[in-house]
Formats: sequence, structure tokens, C-alpha cells
Amino acid sequence: TTPQLLAGKRVVITAGPTVEAIDPVRYLSNHSSGKMGFALARACVAAGAEVILIAGGKVGLPTLLNVTRIDVLSAEEMLLTAQQCVAGTHAALQYVPEEEHEHHSEHSHDHSHEHHDDCGCGETHEHEDDHTHTHMHDHVTDDEPRVADVFIATAAVADYRTRDAAPQKIKKTQESMTLDLVKNPDILATISLAHPELFVVGFAAETQDVERYARGKLVSKDLDLIACNDVSRADIGFASDDNAMQVFFSERYEHDSVTLEKASKDKIAEQLTRIIGETLWQ
Ligand code: C5P
Repeated sequence: TTPQLLAGKRVVITAGPTVEAIDPVRYLSNHSSGKMGFALARACVAAGAEVILIAGGKVGLPTLLNVTRIDVLSAEEMLLTAQQCVAGTHAALQYVPEEEHEHHSEHSHDHSHEHHDDCGCGETHEHEDDHTHTHMHDHVTDDEPRVADVFIATAAVADYRTRDAAPQKIKKTQESMTLDLVKNPDILATISLAHPELFVVGFAAETQDVERYARGKLVSKDLDLIACNDVSRADIGFASDDNAMQVFFSERYEHDSVTLEKASKDKIAEQLTRIIGETLWQ
């Protein structure tokens, strides 16, 4: 049996790629599969946590049992959703009276998309472009929203997005064209710097100088842990089922680094979850 190192903890995880619209039918994205984030969500549930999984892009992975999953597209949408989930104010986390439970789970089964009052007008709307699948459990919040304890950023956030997505499909009338791109927000750093009490875990994919870059990000993004994989290796990472990682700890902790040998993403996720749980209690 898994040690319940995360019992009573609320964990928010970002996973998968983000999708940045170019026009109504085209987008910029990357090959992230979301597998690492989903494996971590499963491992955190097994360790007793309440898990909220923010899945970017078009992750085709099945929704996990006992995980509140929220699908988003762009980095900006992922940031807003992560901020609301960490603060405990996202619509998917509100207390829902007992009689509405069945209603909600039916909705998530037939994949209709319920849109809560994100526009702030005080009403609930139905939108076909909304990607929130609400899986209600007994998130009984009192008067105060419940803030998260742990934030894990596995998402492969697009570094850039189009400055303005074209409102209509772009026609192929020109021989060449230029996309005007602007930098996306750093979701991990934004969340981490805004919540000093939150236990924050980052990921890094590097091809060289793994340790130096990892330690730089630990400090600049104010992380507790960073898990790195060497993406110059063809046998691990991204779309692969396997991974191998080196975990670096913030100077606040007694450990310096730990190496996780090549294993399935599920196994790596279990080991990482144990490390998170043990470090959290230090
Ligand atoms: O800076 P770099 O992209 O290497 O950092 C990787 C880490 O930061 C990952 O944990 C990733 O999920 C997170 N990240 C983020 N938002 C970004 C870029 C990276 O949350 N815009």
C-alpha cells in the first residue's frame, strides 16, 4: 500500500501542451502528451491527495478517477485557471448541494460543457467552446475558499502566442506570411512568486548543462523541487512512456539531488510523489 504522505493535501497539476490560436481553424502547439502530469495526478491520489488536474491543449488521455479535471487551451487560459484553482475560487471547486451531484456527473459523462460564471455577470451560461469538465466530489468549502498546498507544473507551455488570433480563416493569397508572436506568461513562476507558502514543483527539459539550468530555475522561479530530464536522449521524455529524472532540491532542504533511473512514467511519478510528500513534511 502507498504511504499516505499527501493525505488531506490539495494538489494542483498542469499537464500537456498549450494550444495558441492562429485563426479559428489553426494553432501553434507542441508534442507534449500530458502523460507525466496524468501519471502524477494518479500517484498523488494514491498518496491521499485531493487532485485538480489542468489539462492543456488536446490531451486525449482518459479522465482519472477521483481527479477534478479542467481542460484548457491557451497559456493565458491555463494561467487564469491555475490561479483560481490554487486560490480555491475556481467554479469547479465550489460546494455543490447533494441533490445537484447526479446532475453534474451526468453532464460530465455525456461531454456537454457546462460554463460557470466566468464572465462575471452573475449568471451561468452554456457555451459550446467551453472546456471545463466538472467532476464533482464532496468539495465542501466553508465560507473561505480552500487554498492549495502543492502546485506541480508539468505542462509544456508554448513560449509564444500570436499577438492577435485572426477572427476569420486566413486565406492563402500571399506567397509568404509572418506571424507576429508575443511571449506567454510563465505560469509556474507567476503562481510560485504569488504564493510563498505553496509547495511548488517544476519540471525542466534540457539538452545540456542540466544541473546549472535546473538550479537557476529553482531560484528564479522560487521552487521547492525541480525534476529534470535530458531531452537529448531519444528513449525518454515527451511522448515516450518512459522517463528518467534528476531531482534538485531548494537550499531550504537537507537533500541536494536525487536521481531516478529510467522507468515507466507511472513508476517515476510514484517516486516523485513520495519525494514531494517526504519533503513537504520537513
Ligand atoms: O523555463 P522553462 O520553460 O524551462 O521551465 C519549465 C517549467 O516551467 C515547467 O515546470 C513548466 O511547466 C513551467 N512553465 C510554465 N509556464 C511557462 C513556461 C514554463 O508554467 N510559460
